[in-house]
Amino acid sequence: MYKGSIYIETFGCQMNTADTERAATGLRAAGYQLTQQAEDADVVLFNTCSVRARAEQKVFTRIGEVRRGAKEPLIGVMGCVAQLEGETIFAQAPSVRLLVGTRATDRLPTLIEQARAGARRVIDLGERQAGEEWAVSPAERRSKHVAFVPIIEGCNKFCTYCIVPYSRGRERSRPAVEIVAEIERLRELGYSEVHLIGQNVNSYRPKTESGLEGHTGATPFARLLRAVAATGIPRIKYTTSFPRDFHTDIVQAMDEHENLCNWIHLPVQSGSDRVLRSMRRGYKVSDYLARVEAIRGAKRRYALTSDIIIGFPGETRKEFKDTMRLVEQCQFDSLYIFKYSKRRGTPAAKLADIVSDNEMAARFVELEALQKEIQAQIFSAYVGQTVSVLVAGESTRSTVDVTGHTTCNKVVNFPGDVSLIGRIAPIRVTGAKAHSLYGERCEI
Ligand code: 5AD
Ligand code: SF4
Repeated sequence: MYKGSIYIETFGCQMNTADTERAATGLRAAGYQLTQQAEDADVVLFNTCSVRARAEQKVFTRIGEVRRGAKEPLIGVMGCVAQLEGETIFAQAPSVRLLVGTRATDRLPTLIEQARAGARRVIDLGERQAGEEWAVSPAERRSKHVAFVPIIEGCNKFCTYCIVPYSRGRERSRPAVEIVAEIERLRELGYSEVHLIGQNVNSYRPKTESGLEGHTGATPFARLLRAVAATGIPRIKYTTSFPRDFHTDIVQAMDEHENLCNWIHLPVQSGSDRVLRSMRRGYKVSDYLARVEAIRGAKRRYALTSDIIIGFPGETRKEFKDTMRLVEQCQFDSLYIFKYSKRRGTPAAKLADIVSDNEMAARFVELEALQKEIQAQIFSAYVGQTVSVLVAGESTRSTVDVTGHTTCNKVVNFPGDVSLIGRIAPIRVTGAKAHSLYGERCEI
């Protein structure tokens, strides 16, 4: 039975994208039609992010815009901001009538029903319940070629700056047998690439061995990688990894299976031992460098990317320079640099010695310039090489180019048309820009 139209706007990380796909699956099954236009929708849902202050503010701006539209939809907030802020959202944005926490996605149809039946305020910030599945219908996937597959949710690490353990709760790993079955289904549907996603994928620790039997490795994550590789899907990527749990058996598994892609995202956050301790990351610079060495000593060349937070409370100029030195040493293929953002409720929010905005901006520019130089060298070394590119769509910059990405997760643009979308093509790299490569089709 048709119940109405729903628009979902997604902010933040890949886990939110996956949750939106999961929400859409349940809502369509319950009789709703998903729409791409907020203006036509009976229900408007914002799937929110709270990792940094700016992401959080954005959603309130959007709520205001939707509220001023011609139609008055039922407005709901789901995801991390809903989980953390709870009822205060009702006070801050009175047009919101529905709050759905990070583990209540599967209950959305019932909650919407309650709100539409007249309940003035509906709120569910509860835990997942037995029997609720991670299943996503292929029809709701954002792409027909690349699929996100959650393998673990939540976080037990409690880094002092981070809101995630509060917004997403404790780590819960999905049984391997389910993950493998989903990837086999995706392969049959013609998907070329899967991303195993989670806040810390390599902390993967399922309650059951089911699906891991016969796959070797010291850690469950290495065994899972082997089990997933055995499905034969052409490309497998995973993100994000936690340095302390990044054991060498992961690199061994990757070396053994070509379809485990040559890209590792390993956020370091800082190059100062004192700052890392204050962040409660659980490793030292030397531990991180040992991981990098193991990666560099592998059979293949792995592209290595990372995250850095600059201006963590108390970070001195000298400590920032230590981060610069680490970045120089590691030679990352790309780097996400974040200015520290104070998150209420985290231990770091109580720390003194706030780094001034000016100093923060100066450090950002300095680190960005260093990374730009390093990246230019790494990218230009690709010129003349042939890379395999999964074509994702038309290039936004040019009308004659298509865009795709390599196994090492670099963006490649090249002349071609839409008939190539979804195909994996060998591309000879002819030029390098700051954040992408340019090339031409070739036969190999
Ligand atoms: N301030 C700035 N950056 C943050 N990150 C997480 N929390 C914060 C914060 N409070 C960054 C980390 C993480 C990435 C996803 O976001 O670098 O790896
Ligand atoms: Fe946040 Fe640290 Fe968990 Fe990553 S590992 S989600 S930074 S608490």
